[in-house]
Amino acid sequence: MVSPHRPVLGYAGSLRRSPCDGDRAICPEAKRVDRSVCSPSTVPPPGGTKGLLMKRFALLIALLAVFAPASMVALDNGLAKTPPMGWNSWNKFGCDVSADLIKQMADAVVSSGMKDAGYQYVVIDDCWQVSRDKDGNIIADAKRFPEGMKALGDYIHSKGLKFGIYSDAGTGTCQNRPGSRGYEFQDARQYAAWGVDYLKYDWCNHSTQDSAASYSIMRDGLKQSGRPIVFSLCEWGSTKPWLWAGDVGNLWRSTGDIVDKWEGSEKWGGLGMIQIVDLQVGLESYAGPGHWNDPDMLEVGNGGMTNTEYQAHFSLWAILAAPLMAGNDLRTMAPAIRDILTNKEVIAIDQDPLGREGRRVHKDGDLEVWARQLKDGSRAVVLLNRSKDEAEVAVNWEDIGFPAHLSAAVRDLWKHAEAGKFTGLYSAKVASHGVVMVTVKP
Ligand code: GLA
Repeated sequence: MVSPHRPVLGYAGSLRRSPCDGDRAICPEAKRVDRSVCSPSTVPPPGGTKGLLMKRFALLIALLAVFAPASMVALDNGLAKTPPMGWNSWNKFGCDVSADLIKQMADAVVSSGMKDAGYQYVVIDDCWQVSRDKDGNIIADAKRFPEGMKALGDYIHSKGLKFGIYSDAGTGTCQNRPGSRGYEFQDARQYAAWGVDYLKYDWCNHSTQDSAASYSIMRDGLKQSGRPIVFSLCEWGSTKPWLWAGDVGNLWRSTGDIVDKWEGSEKWGGLGMIQIVDLQVGLESYAGPGHWNDPDMLEVGNGGMTNTEYQAHFSLWAILAAPLMAGNDLRTMAPAIRDILTNKEVIAIDQDPLGREGRRVHKDGDLEVWARQLKDGSRAVVLLNRSKDEAEVAVNWEDIGFPAHLSAAVRDLWKHAEAGKFTGLYSAKVASHGVVMVTVKP
């Protein structure tokens, strides 16, 4: 991860923010204050206070009927029925983005076999934009994107891939480029005209904005643009988007930024891979086709973890039904990294059409078992060893919803081999900071 580019703005404020900050209309305390201004000597209207309340209620319903269609549209864009897969510039390149880089990366998605493995979206993260013109239109960096964004989108599409872009719900992005606050519909129309297929929408410089309201405006803007655009919310889990974003976005970040290391945290809020995994516990029921928890983009291949750790990272993202957005330099990746990112058996778990996010079903100190149900009724299982030494880890059938007497076929998804038939449990030696990933099929 490129720490110099890390946002300073936004985090502290947003993490401490209460849903009532800056919006008295949704604040119960504010309502109490409002009521207290009614004088006790107010003369009750005909029909009494109850009659007045009924009239006000009827008026409110009428107003909602008139105004609701424009502002309360459910997401329902038919996209991301399985977690989005692609590549994003941020984790490796930070602000150092250009049309040349993005084109080379699109070429590499195809030549490396990533496209065949299911990766689709090529997403330019922060720093492509520099200003707005006098009419408020967003302007791309002309030095770095000399032919403009439409031409770049056309190039990406010519490779059979999809084009993703980045903006922010606040007044500025995390690198203080112009945000979309106040320009949501105009920006959405512009993206559609450029052929954008995916929007990552960040949360820096949001001041006292309400998150659900702010993200809903851009959802509505994208809808009105008429182009199907995957909407990726990036408010770092700070206002629990899993509780409100199901009909706002196709995916929402559930934590702060990932850092390319096994564990630990940074002062600015970045988290090691395993800390991010811990924060997913309990979120599984909020995900499903069209609306996913997003534990952040992949760091596989960026050099801060061992290949064993990257294998664990990738396997856990698949069990979590997480978006698989590669973040490494695809032009120069080693074969071992390519083999991790293109393991079709693991990707099939991530993309299972049932769309049920997995969960931690067993924890014994540093040894854990994660599992998810698949559409064909079988289970995908990750045996995870967080300790410093190799260890034996077992999955019990009863922990994955199977009776102990069941005989089931176990297949190892990294060895690409059947392990055999097992009754009651399956146990394997797992390397330090590694996983064994299997399917268990009755
Ligand atoms: C935030 C996001 C990152 C990245 C940067 C760009 O930190 O969480 O994923 O988009 O902004 O500035």
